[in-house]
Amino acid sequence: MVKFLTVATGFSILASLVQAAPRSYSSTKKSGFVFNTDPEYSVVSCDNFVYGPYSSWSCHNATAIPAYDSCCFENWGILMSTQFWDFNQTLLDVVNANDSNVIDELEEYYTAIQYAQGDPRTTFTIHGLWNDLCDGSYNQYCNSSLEISDANDNITHVIVDTFDEPELFDTMIKYWVNNVISNVPNGGSISLWEHEYNKHGTCMNTLLPECFTGEYTKFENTVQFYKKVVEIWKTYPTYQFLLAEGIVPTLKKQYELRDVQKALADNNDGFQVYVGCINGTIDEIWYYNNLKGNVLTGEYRPIDTLTNSTCPDKVWYLPK
Ligand SMILES: *[C@@H]1O[C@H](CO)[C@@H](O)[C@H](O)[C@H]1NC(C)=O
Ligand SMILES: *[C@@H]1O[C@H](CO)[C@@H](O)[C@H](O)[C@H]1NC(C)=O
Ligand SMILES: *[C@@H]1O[C@H](CO)[C@@H](O)[C@H](O)[C@H]1NC(C)=O
Ligand SMILES: *[C@@H]1O[C@H](CO)[C@@H](O)[C@H](O)[C@H]1NC(C)=O
Ligand SMILES: *[C@@H]1O[C@H](CO)[C@@H](O)[C@H](O)[C@H]1NC(C)=O
Ligand SMILES: *[C@@H]1O[C@H](CO)[C@@H](O)[C@H](O)[C@H]1NC(C)=O
Ligand SMILES: *[C@@H]1O[C@H](CO)[C@@H](O)[C@H](O)[C@H]1NC(C)=O
Repeated sequence: MVKFLTVATGFSILASLVQAAPRSYSSTKKSGFVFNTDPEYSVVSCDNFVYGPYSSWSCHNATAIPAYDSCCFENWGILMSTQFWDFNQTLLDVVNANDSNVIDELEEYYTAIQYAQGDPRTTFTIHGLWNDLCDGSYNQYCNSSLEISDANDNITHVIVDTFDEPELFDTMIKYWVNNVISNVPNGGSISLWEHEYNKHGTCMNTLLPECFTGEYTKFENTVQFYKKVVEIWKTYPTYQFLLAEGIVPTLKKQYELRDVQKALADNNDGFQVYVGCINGTIDEIWYYNNLKGNVLTGEYRPIDTLTNSTCPDKVWYLPK
């Protein structure tokens, strides 16, 4: 059954919970087996790491991690779940022109839309999962031998046929969308997925093929990376976080940046979230974490953003 709500009223938060997963995505396997039995992610078990002498949150290790634990510790240990808000840029021109008749008319139009549950227009969509170095800088395109190419490998085929993940593919098509602010040329969303894995996924040392159990199939790490990106994104329903504080897209007024930041931090164990803007309009949200264990099966814990907001004190939050 599909439930509806309007952007402006937002009286029913539950009705709009597209990403209703609880804020917990830690893996707490305590079996002590050598191999991870989680059917979703076929990487080596990190039980011995998590409970062993080198157990440490990423970026907080006091000593180098020995090679035998290298699949259980991200050397570049800032894990960022990043999201887009690809607002309609024409509306920015509208609010800047500040013609109250036009604004009123469009506001009425947008508030009248009955968005279905999970409509991407009321969802902060997926940008990616990045691993920054502990100082907040980052490396990229770390291992060309691991890269995927849609032209050569057919990413749809890899996800849907080779790894039999049609539902993952459907979620990605709907919520991991390329757009004018993503800075990936040549349009389609699959270019964005290709770009995100090649740029960031190849930099995760716990995603190396040697970290997988059983017979490794090429791009197993890629597809499991995509799965993890989606899984983590689901735990951050940013639109709902803001809606719960009465912060909804509008052409009528700007919000205080600090109110937006507070609404997000309140849903992030009090840790500050990065809010990005283009031309004073919210367009990106980044959630920072440290990690213990493998990027696929490990435990994440939030930390404050390491990047200052690019927004002014008063921000636009415009409809898509
Ligand atoms: C933490 O572990 C990484 C990976 O072994 C290593 O590069 C880094 O130097 C270690 N940090 C400290 C403070 O020993
Ligand atoms: C963006 O807003 C303008 C002005 O309301 C509208 O004409 C246009 O169709 C919108 N674009 C999209 C992609 O919704
Ligand atoms: C828009 O115009 C109103 C007056 O109609 C003015 O009070 C307001 O400051 C203007 N807003 C902007 C962003 O210029
Ligand atoms: C690149 O990937 C290959 C294939 O798994 C691996 O053997 C190699 O160690 C990786 N290189 C780096 C720098 O991680
Ligand atoms: C890629 O794979 C999909 C799914 O198997 C298939 O429908 C599509 O035709 C393929 N594209 C090309 C260019 O071969
Ligand atoms: C931001 O505004 C400048 C002009 O002030 C304009 O050239 C640019 O296209 C705008 N960027 C976006 C993303 O709207
Ligand atoms: C962020 O802003 C604070 C306060 O203005 C400043 O001290 C700090 O250097 C900035 N950090 C970065 C990474 O720019």
